[in-house]
Amino acid sequence: MSDVTKEIKRRRTFAIISHPDAGKTTLTEKFLLYGGAINTAGSVKGKANSKYAVSDWMDIEKERGISVTSSVLQFEYDDYCINILDTPGHEDFSEDTYRTLMAADSAVMVIDASKGVEAQTIKLFKVCTLRHIPIFTFINKMDREAMDTFDLLDDIESVLGIHTCPMNWPIGSGKAFRGVYDRESKIVSTFEAVSTGGSKSALETDLALDDPKLKDIVDELQFNQLNEEIELLDGAAEELDMDKVSKGELSPVFFGSALNNFGIETFLKYFLKMTTSPLPRESSEGLIDPLSEDFSAFVFKIQANMNKAHRDRIAFMRVCSGRFDATKDVYHVQSGRKLKLSQPQQIMASSRKVLEEAYAGDVIGVFDPALFSIGDTICAPGKKFEYEGIPTFAPEHFARLVQLNSMKRKQFMKGVTEIAQEGAVQLFQDYQLGMSEIIAGVVGVLQFDVLKYRLENEYGCEVRLEPLPYGYIRWVKDVETDLNSLKRLNDVKKVKDMKGNPLLLFTNDWIINMVLDNNEGLELEEFKRN
Ligand code: G4P
Repeated sequence: MSDVTKEIKRRRTFAIISHPDAGKTTLTEKFLLYGGAINTAGSVKGKANSKYAVSDWMDIEKERGISVTSSVLQFEYDDYCINILDTPGHEDFSEDTYRTLMAADSAVMVIDASKGVEAQTIKLFKVCTLRHIPIFTFINKMDREAMDTFDLLDDIESVLGIHTCPMNWPIGSGKAFRGVYDRESKIVSTFEAVSTGGSKSALETDLALDDPKLKDIVDELQFNQLNEEIELLDGAAEELDMDKVSKGELSPVFFGSALNNFGIETFLKYFLKMTTSPLPRESSEGLIDPLSEDFSAFVFKIQANMNKAHRDRIAFMRVCSGRFDATKDVYHVQSGRKLKLSQPQQIMASSRKVLEEAYAGDVIGVFDPALFSIGDTICAPGKKFEYEGIPTFAPEHFARLVQLNSMKRKQFMKGVTEIAQEGAVQLFQDYQLGMSEIIAGVVGVLQFDVLKYRLENEYGCEVRLEPLPYGYIRWVKDVETDLNSLKRLNDVKKVKDMKGNPLLLFTNDWIINMVLDNNEGLELEEFKRN
């Protein structure tokens, strides 16, 4: 095996998806602790002294409200090289969060055991299913009062439409949480919470199901219930079919507590064993083998103005095949230009490490002289294929963009066009009025602040954003459709995107169905494949 193959084979690149507060940061932190990338709990999110996670951006960007970046955390564990792609949540939730998922080979879905599947998880899950990547579920906070275990699995299956296969099974929850039973090894890992100097952890002991010591920890009622549930599961639960797992049709489920560091290493071990190294990707020349010697990558995100002093623009690319060598020329397919990627870096939170090489599975950030666009392909000179584009995701907030100084129309148009090209916001025009009514659409409201700030600071244009009541957007599949010929469009706004594709904006999803019912043959899409 060549060194390049060896390096690629040991890579695992995944994203963690969850609703805010389910425990994504805490879980990430525990992973990093196992990998030795950090050595104290609290480094990812120093709870008391520093407000931000390692995976968050610099304070200065926070202050300016422009932290819409996802970064990658790379660490080594058990001879694997692991890349966790950070998917910004909370107030930083934006289209970039979705785009980052396009760069992952699998996803870990963290669910709060007391809440089940929540809104943001549903959105992120939908994006993962576009690519049919494997999804592993970690049901967190078992040390708190949880929903019934069978109900939790039902919830995942019915809300998300994915089958589940519990890999382990919890014994009680909250104050009565006693551990998990591993269905493969038939071993119980017992849980006893201990508090050491402020940070939480658990005493974990592995016992066979028939070990008499188990009865000291698990009372008779729980013991009998566990046996009944195991029997039920073995009879009724879905078999672990790795083929279905790899297609994202079946999710292996694990239970634990990130805060107490319980069940995390087991999860990580199973996860690494069950996931694959970087997968082939679809391109204009068919599937590209990640193990091929030739370097290739695609741009999944562009971040402007990360450094106020330099006002630079960084393009984040996911390496899809071969080895990246910073000393060698690469070919940018869309512009047809041969170039050296400038200042390639691995972006880890506030620190940036200059890179000399990277392998398929890794993410690099490079200085972008306003050349790259989202979805662009970079490959070895002599190659010319293009990776499948990144879809445009449905914005959920809309505002009319009103320019306050009409003298500056030119700068204004330049600004909005450039910012939209970078993918920082989506722009739409009124179906009839065209560009005299511009509407900005975003996935996360922070993107509005970014737009306003950048128009004022970079282009000298003051704008007012007038919020619109729409929350749902659908592309009309047949782009030739005349929207004026559609019936029952009261309360629906007709717009075009910048390429002239027709779209409809709705205030609720009930109206979407009503419009579909009244317009035979009309097909609407939530994602636009570019
Ligand atoms: P997020 O990144 O998904 O938003 O979640 P994060 O890890 O920040 O966790 C959200 C809250 O849930 C935190 O508490 C965290 O300590 C807590 N938490 C995470 N995992 C567990 C768990 O297994 N059990 C319990 N009981 N709690 C857990 P917080 O009060 O919001 O923050 P802090 O005061 O602890 O900083």
